[in-house]
Amino acid sequence: MLEKMLQDLEHIQEETKSQLKKVVSQEELNEIRVKFLGKKGELTAILKGMGKLNNEDRPKVGQVANEIRNNMEGFIAAKTKELKEAALTAQIEEERIDISLPGDPVALGHRHPLTMVIDDIKEIFLGMGYEIAEGPEVENDYNNFEGLNLPKDHPARDMQDSFYITENILLRTHTSPVQVRTMAKMVPNYPVKVICPGKVFRRDDDSTHSPMFHQVEGLVIDENISLADLKGTLLTVLRQLFGADREIRLRPSYFPFTEPSVEVDISCGICGGKGCRSCANTGWLEILGAGMVHPNVLEMAGYDSTKLRGFAFGIGVERVAMLKYGIDDLRVFFENDTRFLNQF
Ligand code: PHE
Repeated sequence: MLEKMLQDLEHIQEETKSQLKKVVSQEELNEIRVKFLGKKGELTAILKGMGKLNNEDRPKVGQVANEIRNNMEGFIAAKTKELKEAALTAQIEEERIDISLPGDPVALGHRHPLTMVIDDIKEIFLGMGYEIAEGPEVENDYNNFEGLNLPKDHPARDMQDSFYITENILLRTHTSPVQVRTMAKMVPNYPVKVICPGKVFRRDDDSTHSPMFHQVEGLVIDENISLADLKGTLLTVLRQLFGADREIRLRPSYFPFTEPSVEVDISCGICGGKGCRSCANTGWLEILGAGMVHPNVLEMAGYDSTKLRGFAFGIGVERVAMLKYGIDDLRVFFENDTRFLNQF
């Protein structure tokens, strides 16, 4: 009886060992655990026979049975560990990144055409000794209008219909408020020689007007500044931008903050000034507004208008870009269609 039980115990230990060898999954492992060590398993079945042993043999079998149970649990634990490691290795193998494969190319962008034009303009003026001034896009009424000789209810305010935040605060309609800011900062010092590139806003929207567009403002204040200085400066700048063969002409115009005021045209690049479809047969293309700083503007800023003079101009950046690149609809600049942008 004793011999038989010990043999049986030995046998299920060997049986567990050999069956575990073939196990490849956690489910199979569980089945084996239940089959040999479970409540209704083979070990329990053998131990049921213990009651028939005499008192002397019973502890012996008990001891051997405990050892064997421990061994079998050890085999199962070892197999569990082995299966987990194998699963992890398989997962790592599956997710392995082949670093020798070529990567996805990253599409390189470039500067926006308007940024390119602004950079060109800045470069030219910096070369002429100008400094770059800045001002906010959200302005107060004084800087945008009053300080530029445009009191409340002045009819010329209608030329620049604005986006108001409050009665007194608006999106700037031009970069000219930076003139007012610059003078307030500099007074009573001179010469003043600045440009200010930036965004401006108006309630306009068609193929040649956008509610947001860009200008480059210019302001020069010194003794003995004349309209000839303005003309010479603009001719130099526009020839650098468009080519040395271009001419400019000044036409009388009106801005409340300049007197006299001019509209500046550049000779048509397509017909060379003879007249063609692009320039509506005039030979000229309008490109910017300018003039001599109005004495009231100088005085309001605290400069002595009997001693100092100034000139100012406002270049429309989109306008320059359209003429430079032959674009007839300004909205393409803001649609960000890469088929358009990639052409630059
Ligand atoms: N601020 C004017 C405009 O936006 C342009 C300008 C600037 C005219 C400076 C004269 C002097 O229309």
